[in-house]
Amino acid sequence: MVHEVPDVDDERAARDGDRDGAEERRATSRGLIGGDLETRARTARVPPLDHPFVLAPYRKDGDEEATRAFVAHHPLHIEIGFGRPHYLIDLARLHPEAHVLGFEIKRDWVRAAATRAEREGLTNVRVIEGDARPHLERLVAPGTVDGLHVLFPDPWWKKRHHKRRVFTADFTALLARLLAPDGDLVTKTDVPAYVDQMIDEALAHDLELVGQGSADPMLAALPRSHREKKCLELDVPFHMLRFRRKPAS
Ligand SMILES: C[S@@+](CC[C@H](N)C(=O)[O-])C[C@H]1O[C@@H](n2cnc3c(N)ncnc32)[C@H](O)[C@@H]1O
Repeated sequence: MVHEVPDVDDERAARDGDRDGAEERRATSRGLIGGDLETRARTARVPPLDHPFVLAPYRKDGDEEATRAFVAHHPLHIEIGFGRPHYLIDLARLHPEAHVLGFEIKRDWVRAAATRAEREGLTNVRVIEGDARPHLERLVAPGTVDGLHVLFPDPWWKKRHHKRRVFTADFTALLARLLAPDGDLVTKTDVPAYVDQMIDEALAHDLELVGQGSADPMLAALPRSHREKKCLELDVPFHMLRFRRKPAS
C-alpha cells in the first residue's frame, strides 16, 4: 500500500492560511455584535427561532435566498433595532404595498414582532435576529431601500463606550449606500449629543438633511416607536431627522 506523505510546506501553508483567514475574519468582525456571520452560525448554541416570519440567513438553509428575494421587492422599508415592535408593526400596516424588514439583537423582541405580525395578518413583515450591519452589507443591494429607520439607537453615554454606538462613520456610509435616490433615512433620538453625531456623519457621507421635527409632513405621518411614546408620556424632548442622498452633481 502506498501512503501519501503530506508535503510539509503545503501543510504549513494551509495552517498559515487558516491563521490569516481567522485573523482577517477577526479584523472585519471587530465591533460586530455576535462576531462575523459564519462564526456565529457555527458556534451559536441556540438554534434560530422557528417562525415563518423570522428569517435566519447563514443559520437556516434557504434563508439567505429567501431574504434576498424579500428585499428585492419595492417599496422596501428596513428598521434597525426595533426593540418593542410598535413602530415596525404600524409601519407595515401603514404601507401594505411595501416589504418591511426589521433587525433586532434581542430575541424576545424578534419573537414578539413575528408573533404580532402573523396575528395581525401582516404578511409584508419579516424579522432577523442579529446585528443589522453585516446582514445589510451582504444581503441588500445598494441604492434599493426606500425607507431606513433607526429610532432611538442605544446612547452608550460614557465616552469610552461611544465606539459601541451604532451610528458611526462606517454605519452611516453603509446606510447612504443602501438608500434609493429618493429614499429616506429617518432617525430619532432624545440624546442631544447624538443628534450632532448623526448630522455630522450624515453630511460627511453624501446625505443631506431634508426634514426635521413634526413640521416635516413625512416625519409627522410616521408611526411612533415605544421609546418615542415614553418620551411623549414623560415630556422628554426628542429630535426627528430625515436625510436623503445628495443628488449626484
Ligand atoms: C434604545 S432601544 C430602541 C428601541 C426602539 N427603536 C424604540 O425606539 O423604542 C435600541 C434597540 O436597538 C437594538 N440594537 C442595538 N444595536 C443593534 C444592531 N447592531 N442591530 C440590530 N439591533 C440593534 C437593541 O437591542 C435595542 O433593542
